[in-house]
Amino acid sequence: MRPYMGTYLMASKNYTSGIVLCLFLLILKASSLELHANRACIIGGGFAGLATARYMKQYGVNFTLFEASRHIGGTWRFDPHVGIDEDGLPLFTSMYKNLRTNTPRQTMEFAGFPFPDDTPSYPSGPCYYKYLQYFAKHFDLLKNIQVRSLVTSVKWVDDHWELTYYNSESKQSRTETCDFVVVASGQYLLPSWPKIEGLETFRGNMIHSHDYKDPEDYRNHRVLVVGAGASGLDLATHLSNVTSKLVHSHHAIFNQPHFGDTYVRKPDIMAFTATGAIFQDGTFEELDDVIFCTGYRYNHPFLDSSTGVTATDKFILPLYQQVVNIKHPSMTFVGISKRIINRVLDAQAEYSAALAAGKFKIPSQEEMLNIWLSHVYNIQTKGMKIVDVNVIGNDMDQYFGNLTQEAGVVRAPLVLSEMRDFNAVNRLEDLLNYRDYDYKIMDDSHFERKYNPRKVLPCPIDDL
Ligand SMILES: Cc1cc2nc3c(=O)[nH]c(=O)nc-3n(C[C@H](O)[C@H](O)[C@H](O)COP(=O)(O)OP(=O)(O)OC[C@H]3O[C@@H](n4cnc5c(N)ncnc54)[C@H](O)[C@@H]3O)c2cc1C
Ligand SMILES: *[C@@H]1O[C@H](CO)[C@@H](O)[C@H](O)[C@H]1NC(C)=O
Ligand SMILES: *[C@@H]1O[C@H](CO)[C@@H](O)[C@H](O)[C@H]1NC(C)=O
Ligand SMILES: *[C@@H]1O[C@H](CO)[C@@H](O)[C@H](O)[C@H]1NC(C)=O
Repeated sequence: MRPYMGTYLMASKNYTSGIVLCLFLLILKASSLELHANRACIIGGGFAGLATARYMKQYGVNFTLFEASRHIGGTWRFDPHVGIDEDGLPLFTSMYKNLRTNTPRQTMEFAGFPFPDDTPSYPSGPCYYKYLQYFAKHFDLLKNIQVRSLVTSVKWVDDHWELTYYNSESKQSRTETCDFVVVASGQYLLPSWPKIEGLETFRGNMIHSHDYKDPEDYRNHRVLVVGAGASGLDLATHLSNVTSKLVHSHHAIFNQPHFGDTYVRKPDIMAFTATGAIFQDGTFEELDDVIFCTGYRYNHPFLDSSTGVTATDKFILPLYQQVVNIKHPSMTFVGISKRIINRVLDAQAEYSAALAAGKFKIPSQEEMLNIWLSHVYNIQTKGMKIVDVNVIGNDMDQYFGNLTQEAGVVRAPLVLSEMRDFNAVNRLEDLLNYRDYDYKIMDDSHFERKYNPRKVLPCPIDDL
């Protein structure tokens, strides 16, 4: 072992908004690392946390999963509360009525745990939520899940983790000791609001899509939807039939479908007034409601500085394999990577459990940091910025291969990446009809697609 002290200071004018600093004071261990956790703590009971729980159990690691709300399922659970739940905690779900998945379910399945064959490729939100519940029951995870437990602090103390949570039932905080921590607290919970002139002067109703629930709330209203990402396109589709006027401000490029006669497309907003919005083309629209579909920010307020990670609202670093906290490798992140399918979360979950169980060795901290630095160098040469440090995107299949090679994680087949890519193009080409197909996986690299429009969406998981 050759411990030494290293200081890395990165500052570059190439990076987004001025200077991004990341300063590490690392005591690096130069030998490869093998861990053996007696007790793992998992934060969050959505897809990522449930997948992790399954593998912890499979690899024989004792664990507790802490979930803030009273329920598992994360963002897939529809909750009528707005902003704050029945226990006074922030509402950590962004689900709304009429949602259907925007990716084929095959890319959203836990490894080796498919939906029943006759499930539509784009099931309803409630159907996917049932799938998550069914998974937790099937693998008997519930007795290790502690609900109503909002994690408020994770600290590295001496040689272990101290995790503090607030129990909304007893209204008390407790601190517990863990020797491995998996952060699986989601990434679509904290709204990102744009800064626009006059925003606070608007007297109508203004929300973020995180708080959007039901198109009926907008019947016969004049509504402005801002943005054309996944949420913006979906809400435009859902609202166009109920609003008296639907104004859609965005600068996305896609094959604009006919959204109905009340729909007007606008460029970016220049300013808000008390009664409406002025757009970059100089036009003005009177409005009753504004819905910002402007995305989400990372939210890890519980990570103490002793964790050694820099966790901002846009990126987290430095992580080895997009998962392991290099400063303290007994902490992993499942589900903060960007431009991925849920199967990546499953692979990161298995990787985390295999690491906790000591099934494989990771490189020395020094080596991990070098690998991470070359990753930063690579994204920069591709014209990307430090905010893109958690993007996997087009490297997804290679990433699956790397996790398999290093940790023996079940290999996700290439066909999943191909389906993801095909769907991404097709969605923007044919927004109103791309879900009218069923996908069938033929082998590890081929799928077929069959036209199958449906009036009613079955959810065969109900019958299991
Ligand atoms: C509206 C919407 C639609 C989507 N549609 C699709 C889709 O069609 N296809 C697709 O592939 N992906 C979709 N996604 C992405 C979705 O995030 C993933 O499918 C998946 O749910 C991510 O799971 P997760 O466990 O990482 O996060 P989440 O599901 O967000 O779960 C995180 C959990 O952590 C808990 N938590 C958070 N902070 C704490 C804390 N401090 N202490 C304790 N618990 C905490 C929360 O209560 C929550 O239960 C969608 C996301 C949204 C918001
Ligand atoms: C698992 O951990 C809990 C909490 O530390 C402990 O009470 C329990 O006995 C452990 N179970 C096993 C099988 O080690
Ligand atoms: C609007 O409603 C009509 C009639 O019910 C339907 O045919 C059409 O597909 C709907 N449009 C959208 C964009 O949902
Ligand atoms: C996979 O591993 C190779 C070899 O270590 C590395 O160059 C590459 O960047 C990795 N790819 C991803 C997506 O992590």
